[in-house]
Amino acid sequence: MNSQVLHGRTALVTGGSKGIGRETARLLASMGAQVYICGRDRNALTAAEGSLRTAGRVHAHQCDVRDPEACMALIARIENEQGRLDVLVCNAGMSMRGTIEACTPEVMRIMADINYLGAAYMAHFACGLLKASRGSVIFVSTLASLHGLPGMGPYGASKAALRAFSQSLRSELASWGVHVGLVHVGFTENDHDKSVYRSDGSLATIDRRHHAQSQTQTASCIVSCILHRRREMVLTRLGAAADLIYRLFPKLSDALILRYTRRNTDMYRTAE
Ligand SMILES: NC(=O)c1ccc[n+]([C@@H]2O[C@H](COP(=O)([O-])OP(=O)(O)OC[C@H]3O[C@@H](n4cnc5c(N)ncnc54)[C@H](OP(=O)(O)O)[C@@H]3O)[C@@H](O)[C@H]2O)c1
Repeated sequence: MNSQVLHGRTALVTGGSKGIGRETARLLASMGAQVYICGRDRNALTAAEGSLRTAGRVHAHQCDVRDPEACMALIARIENEQGRLDVLVCNAGMSMRGTIEACTPEVMRIMADINYLGAAYMAHFACGLLKASRGSVIFVSTLASLHGLPGMGPYGASKAALRAFSQSLRSELASWGVHVGLVHVGFTENDHDKSVYRSDGSLATIDRRHHAQSQTQTASCIVSCILHRRREMVLTRLGAAADLIYRLFPKLSDALILRYTRRNTDMYRTAE
């Protein structure tokens, strides 16, 4: 399938104001789609809308995906303005750093609210429009959901829930021709001010010095999942190798994860 299919279509990218979501919105807009982006921070939304305008038609909408009524209102706005929704990218998400022992229950709840429920609410309200368009819904997950990693348990668990959720949705919408995809993103370049939760609930700027993919590369993979109607994609070479080892050699996986995370301490590092 070529990118022409997106011309004149309508897409919503949650968390499209920053990072990977913004670059996914840019790509979809450059292919001729009307793109809606959402996030909580109004300034970031305005800046993103401005920067994406050169790519195509982009509309910003302030919405916290943890609020089901706000999700419903955004889908209603799209229906009123465009009469259709062809692509939903459930990308809004936040990560955390801290052991399960140190994590407060509040941080555990926030992870589930943003990463799992935020995507679930939006998909729920979009079902009718996606059925009418025989469209696509993509859930943006992480390698940390394929096998729990130390220091980010509640984050990985909240994203792992998306696998079962997307499988159920795929079966439920199969007869309507709706495509449901799941993309496990690997280490991707961050915006310089990207923040994550610490175990005590405070926010910290992430300090990652290495990444395997640029935001544009990751966005291209997400768009490729839409265009080729792929079920599931595991990104980066490290991710693909890890996925295989996790499934074939679970004990070896535990040992390798421990070794890898000890060596690559910047997986956990936040700027103090
Ligand atoms: N970067 C990586 O290496 C990596 C690796 C694996 C998976 N991922 C996944 O890829 C996705 C994007 O990551 P990123 O690195 O681009 O993160 P990012 O730069 O922090 O962007 C996250 C986006 O989500 C929005 N968001 C967060 N909480 C929200 C909420 N409650 N309601 C609405 N919007 C919300 C943010 O806007 P506001 O803050 O204004 O709300 C922002 O637009 C996430 O789902 C993440 O888990 C990223």
